[in-house]
Amino acid sequence: MKVGIFGSGAVAKALAAGFMETGHAVMLGTRNPSKLEDWDWKNRGGIVGSLAETARFGEMLVLAVKGTAALEVLRAAGITNLAGKVVIDTTNPIAESPPVNGVLRFFTTLEESLLERLQREFPAARLVKAFNSVGNASMFRPKFKGGKPTMFICGNDDAAKKAVTDILDAFGWETEDMGKMEAARAIEPLCMLWCIPGFLRQEWTHAFKLLR
Ligand SMILES: NC(=O)c1ccc[n+]([C@@H]2O[C@H](COP(=O)([O-])OP(=O)(O)OC[C@H]3O[C@@H](n4cnc5c(N)ncnc54)[C@H](OP(=O)(O)O)[C@@H]3O)[C@@H](O)[C@H]2O)c1
Repeated sequence: MKVGIFGSGAVAKALAAGFMETGHAVMLGTRNPSKLEDWDWKNRGGIVGSLAETARFGEMLVLAVKGTAALEVLRAAGITNLAGKVVIDTTNPIAESPPVNGVLRFFTTLEESLLERLQREFPAARLVKAFNSVGNASMFRPKFKGGKPTMFICGNDDAAKKAVTDILDAFGWETEDMGKMEAARAIEPLCMLWCIPGFLRQEWTHAFKLLR
């Protein structure tokens, strides 16, 4: 499959590596391709393009940009280029203001998540929230003493969630489908919880698991 990833940061690169290792072709999309001149996956087939080129390239798309820029990036990608495509939304709505006692601030509310804002503006894109509740170092083939971690996902399109679940299986995760887009109101704040041990105690290597 051809995968277009919007982003040039740690998440974009970690997921690009995972997709390429599992046999997919990847284009990273950025406003500034010179930022990726030393991207070490280039000589293993990874390519770099503009946001619109990346949107056209990808049969599946991944949004891996700063939360405050997410809407703007999808607009630049082009509404028609997104129509009908699965878009994995890894973003978190982290505000510019600093954390309080290790607790991140969000620019969204508990009544409207970032995923909902994106889905409303791009109704023909098939958005699925995933990969937002773990650090980039553990996104591909996570290794924990406690076993396989759980990725919580949500979105309005069941076939899109099935496609993302298949990717998560291949990347080494178990998946919990939490339902429609409103569930992102609960999934996005998992990022706040995940980051607290990091800010307070410099512990950044953990993941969530749902036990029954
Ligand atoms: N870091 C993690 O471990 C982690 C884990 C889970 C989820 N997340 C979430 O995943 C997303 C990506 O995180 P990250 O740490 O890889 O990178 P980041 O530093 O949050 O974002 C970098 C990306 O955002 C884009 N960007 C920033 N400002 C922009 C603007 N004004 N207009 C357009 N694009 C803009 C940059 O695009 P250009 O290339 O065009 O400059 C770059 O690709 C975030 O939403 C983050 O909350 C991060």
